[in-house]
Amino acid sequence: MKVEFELNGEEKSFDVEPGEVLLDLLRDNGCKSVKRGCETGDCGACMVLVNGRAMTSCTLFAAQVNGREIRTVEGLEDELAERLKESLLEAGAVQCGFCIPGVLISAYSLLSRKENPTEEEIEAALDGNLCRCTGYIKQIEAIKETSNKIGGSRDGR
Ligand code: FES
Ligand code: FES
Repeated sequence: MKVEFELNGEEKSFDVEPGEVLLDLLRDNGCKSVKRGCETGDCGACMVLVNGRAMTSCTLFAAQVNGREIRTVEGLEDELAERLKESLLEAGAVQCGFCIPGVLISAYSLLSRKENPTEEEIEAALDGNLCRCTGYIKQIEAIKETSNKIGGSRDGR
């Protein structure tokens, strides 16, 4: 069957098998930032933005995103994304790195909807992202730091 959606700003058309999951389709088409972890919706390694919301691509059939807008880390290049990457690195929040694309997607989704999230809101946004290395503290700090930097640049406009 044919599935059409916008992938990282470009209109795409794919022939997919019935039952093919979005995770496989994206990885087979060059989006290697989308990681294969649990494949049951529990670890968040495969998260992508679907119309701006963070969702696990292992639990979505490719056919379900027909007509939607999909963004992976490969397509996150704006100021918010760059600040987030910078803050995660500066905070020492990247160790093995396997969870980081999913964390970026969750954080990006949160900060694009909410200017100054509380710590509880950040924790809730990362609820679906499993990280075995960092204990989350540094990731939460990095997201707060990004929110401050972005807030500062908004104020200085
Ligand atoms: S691989 Fe999709 S949530 Fe773990
Ligand atoms: S940095 Fe290793 S799993 Fe998160």
